[in-house]
Amino acid sequence: MASPALQVQLSDAEMKLLQALVYQECGMYFDSRRAHFLQDRLQRRLRECRLDSFYSYYRLLISEEGKQELSRLLENLTVNETSFFRNKAQLDLFHKHVLDEILRRKQEKGEFSLRMWSAGCSTGQEAYTMAMLTCDALSYHCLRNPNGHEPPSPKPLVAMPWRLEILASDISYTVLRAGQEGIYSETQMASVDYSYRLRYFDKVGDRYAVKKALKELVHFDFHNLKTEYLPQRNDVIFCRNVMMYFDEAEQKRLVEKFARCLNPGGYLFVGHAETLLGLTDKFNMIYRDIGTAYQKIEVSA
Ligand SMILES: C[S@@+](CC[C@H](N)C(=O)[O-])C[C@H]1O[C@@H](n2cnc3c(N)ncnc32)[C@H](O)[C@@H]1O
Repeated sequence: MASPALQVQLSDAEMKLLQALVYQECGMYFDSRRAHFLQDRLQRRLRECRLDSFYSYYRLLISEEGKQELSRLLENLTVNETSFFRNKAQLDLFHKHVLDEILRRKQEKGEFSLRMWSAGCSTGQEAYTMAMLTCDALSYHCLRNPNGHEPPSPKPLVAMPWRLEILASDISYTVLRAGQEGIYSETQMASVDYSYRLRYFDKVGDRYAVKKALKELVHFDFHNLKTEYLPQRNDVIFCRNVMMYFDEAEQKRLVEKFARCLNPGGYLFVGHAETLLGLTDKFNMIYRDIGTAYQKIEVSA
């Protein structure tokens, strides 16, 4: 049994085995620049498990009884940085152009349901931002296009006959629980302005809780983006600041899967430092100011 203070030697062969296992399980690729981070987290997990070699740790991870430890290791390797209203220019494009286009197109076809997905949602700020912006866009759309439905009192966030579902998924149960709870500190709320706080949050002590009506629009669930079968029929997918931890081969596979998960004409939003350039020919890039998004290309039959 290893003494808690001692660093156990990690051989190159063990490192390669563990690197490959992590890649195979979740797509995260630790190149030489990030190898140190992986080594550090592996040392911590080895100590927690009180094992004396990384090979034994590897054997544990690939065993039936090691499934829980494998998910704990993956949780320890993820970077969960996020915030409300992250990347303002991109969200302006989403709010003012993309939502407007989708709502008009759906209204013309008599389809009144919207499905969106925050893939790699971390603690939920991205999904709740999507929900707030979509509720606002829907209210404005309904104001301009009255449909004769008498709004019930109190007025619902999503006006009849529209339906909005937002899936927020991640590989870490810890962040999913926090998102589901929907309670945020003053620091986490820094980028949420006054009018959004008033309409979509309740003050609970020194923190802010997402109002029930908004919370009900967002469903948190575990999905590993590495797996083949992912949630289908989405109008919009946000997958921001996730692909940057994958290598190019994994990014290509993921973007192909996203194309299959989107409805015709659906939109994919990736992070500021990410691009689909060179990864796929299934999307057109659109942009307003410095905000970018990708629209799935319609394939005529
Ligand atoms: C940096 S956060 C990004 C959060 C949010 N999308 C944003 O841009 O603010 C990356 C998230 O991706 C998740 N993640 C990493 N690999 C994943 C995988 N294979 N499947 C699902 N989620 C994954 C991590 O757990 C983490 O919460």
